[in-house]
Amino acid sequence: MKNIAIFASGAGSNAENIIRYFQNHPNVHIDSVWSNKKDAYVLQRAANLGVESRYFTREQFIGSDQMIAELQLRNIELVVLAGFLWLVPPEFVDAFTVINIHPALLPAYGGKGMYGLIVHESVVRNREKESGITIHLVNKEYDKGEHLLQVKCPVFPDDTSETLAARIHELEYKFFPKAIEDYLIRNKSL
Ligand code: GAR
Repeated sequence: MKNIAIFASGAGSNAENIIRYFQNHPNVHIDSVWSNKKDAYVLQRAANLGVESRYFTREQFIGSDQMIAELQLRNIELVVLAGFLWLVPPEFVDAFTVINIHPALLPAYGGKGMYGLIVHESVVRNREKESGITIHLVNKEYDKGEHLLQVKCPVFPDDTSETLAARIHELEYKFFPKAIEDYLIRNKSL
């Protein structure tokens, strides 16, 4: 079994979609969901689906080996960021393969502070004709790791950040779980 830990900071619709996708998978197990926000809805969603959910502080995440040790004890092979706000510290990137999803076509609209609706607000404000999703490996810089997959969608003149977010979410639900599975297959983990 390949054990995956999901990190998320918000509503967690991607986390739920990933949990459901792998629910009866023969080789992949979603071990746990971790959030840096105590009241993030993602923790409730995970618990409702029978997945252990955990809150952690900045002190536990950065400059301490405690979380890494715990994830290693759980035999976590892959950490998936599904709407996670913080930069992942270097020691984490050294210890695990980490995959992130970003709701735009990186390198555009990436970097610190570019999260969720803020990304879509900028895309709409700049009257872009297209946007999309980027699924990528995480390295030590925000949104700079190797791309695994990009998928585009149109941005219409009458889009708001909310209508664009909904279109992007549909792409995420369709492509993210499969991209995780494909990555594991490509790396001969499955
Ligand atoms: C998703 O659209 C994800 O791409 C984005 O946050 C949203 C979380 O939605 N991630 C980032 O912006 C990372 N910089 P969700 O909580 O409903 O899955």
